[in-house]
Amino acid sequence: MECVRKVCDDLYWVGGNDHRLALFENIHPIPRGVSYNSYLLLDEKTVLFDTVDWSIGRQFLENVAAVLKGRDLDYLIINHMEPDHAASIEEILLRYPNVTVISTEKGFLLMRQFGFDVEKMEEVKEGDTRCFGTHTITFVEAPMVHWPEAMVSFDITNGVLFSADAFGSFGALDGKLFNDEVNFDRDWIDDARRYYTNIVGKYGAHVQALLKKAATIDIKMICPLHGPVWRNDLGYILDKYQHWSTYEPEEKGVLIAYASMYGNTENAAHVLATKLVEKGMHNVALYDVSNTHVSQLISETFKYSHLVLASVTYNLGIYPVMHNFLMDMKALNVQKRVVGIIENGSWAPKSGSLMKECLDEMKQMSILNEELSFVSSMNDANRNEMDALVDGILDSMKDA
Ligand code: FEO
Repeated sequence: MECVRKVCDDLYWVGGNDHRLALFENIHPIPRGVSYNSYLLLDEKTVLFDTVDWSIGRQFLENVAAVLKGRDLDYLIINHMEPDHAASIEEILLRYPNVTVISTEKGFLLMRQFGFDVEKMEEVKEGDTRCFGTHTITFVEAPMVHWPEAMVSFDITNGVLFSADAFGSFGALDGKLFNDEVNFDRDWIDDARRYYTNIVGKYGAHVQALLKKAATIDIKMICPLHGPVWRNDLGYILDKYQHWSTYEPEEKGVLIAYASMYGNTENAAHVLATKLVEKGMHNVALYDVSNTHVSQLISETFKYSHLVLASVTYNLGIYPVMHNFLMDMKALNVQKRVVGIIENGSWAPKSGSLMKECLDEMKQMSILNEELSFVSSMNDANRNEMDALVDGILDSMKDA
C-alpha cells in the first residue's frame, strides 16, 4: 500500500524509510534508521524531485504511482546523484518512458557512469528556471554539498527549497514528516549533527557558499533528502549549519575522549571530568574511543569548544583507535578547538607528542600548555599537573 504525505498544495512526499540498514554508506551506524525523501509535484506537468535508495524502491514506486493517479510523469529533477537518492532512476525511466530528466552537466556525467541510459534530458546550470504550470523552479548549484554535481531546486512560487543532502539527518521518519511533528532539539539534533559532520563536514566552505545563496531567497520550507521537512523555525537549523560549516563550536563545554587498555588512562579522564564539574563546568561529555563509533566522536567534536585527548602509548605510538579518531578529525577538516593532552605509557610515554603532531596538521587548533603525562597509573606526583590542566581549560574558557 502507498505510504505518502502531503507536504503543501500540489506537493507530496513519496519517499520511504529503511530500518534494516545497519551502516549508512556502509560505515556510519544508524540505529534509528534513515529516510530517503523524494517529492512529487502535481502541476500542469508532473515533476519528481530525486528518487530513493533501491532498498525502498518498491515502496517508492507504489507511492509515485498512487500520487500520480494514472497521470504520466513528465519530469524527473535530479539534484544529487549519490545512489542513496539516484539508484531508482532506471526503474523510473522504464516505467515512465516519456519522462524528461533535468540535472546538471556533472549530474548527467554521473548518470552515465552509473549506467543509466537517459534519452530525454535537459541540462541546467546556476540560475536557470523551468515553469511547470503554476510552479516555477530555479536551480542553484551546490557543488560538494555533498558531491560535485549537486544542486538544489527552489520553487519560486511557494518558497519550497529542495535542498538535496543539506539540512538532512539520519533517522527514519516513521510517519512524522515535519520538524514540528517531532521534538527535534531533544530527539533529532544529535543525529542531524552526526549526519552533517560526517557526510558534509569536510566541505564547510562549500556549505557556506550555499548558505549565502540561500540568504538571498525567501525560503518558506526546506525539503531535504533525509530526515524531517522544515516548515517553521528555519532559523534553528540554519544557525546550526552556520556553526558547523564555519567550524565554530555550538557550546562551551569539554569533550573528553580517552583510550585506555587497563583502566588507568580512563581513571585520569574521570578525575579530569570530576574536577571540571566540581569547579563549575558541568557541560562535560566523556567517551571511551574503543567503544564509541568514530562518527559519534566527530559529531561531539563539532559540538563542544574544548577537547581533551587522553591516550595510552601503544607500540610506541598513539593507541590505534585514538589515532583513527585523529585521522578522521583531519579528514573532516575539524578546526578551531582548544585541546588538552593527557598521555600515559608504562616505559616510554609518546602518545602526547604524537597526538600534538596530528593536531598541528589541523587548522587553528590551540593546544594547552598544561599537559598531563604519567607512567602506568596516576599517583600523588600527578596531582599538580592534573590541577593545572583543569585550570588551563577553565582559564581558556574565560578568554573565549
Ligand atoms: Fe544522501 Fe550524498 O547522499
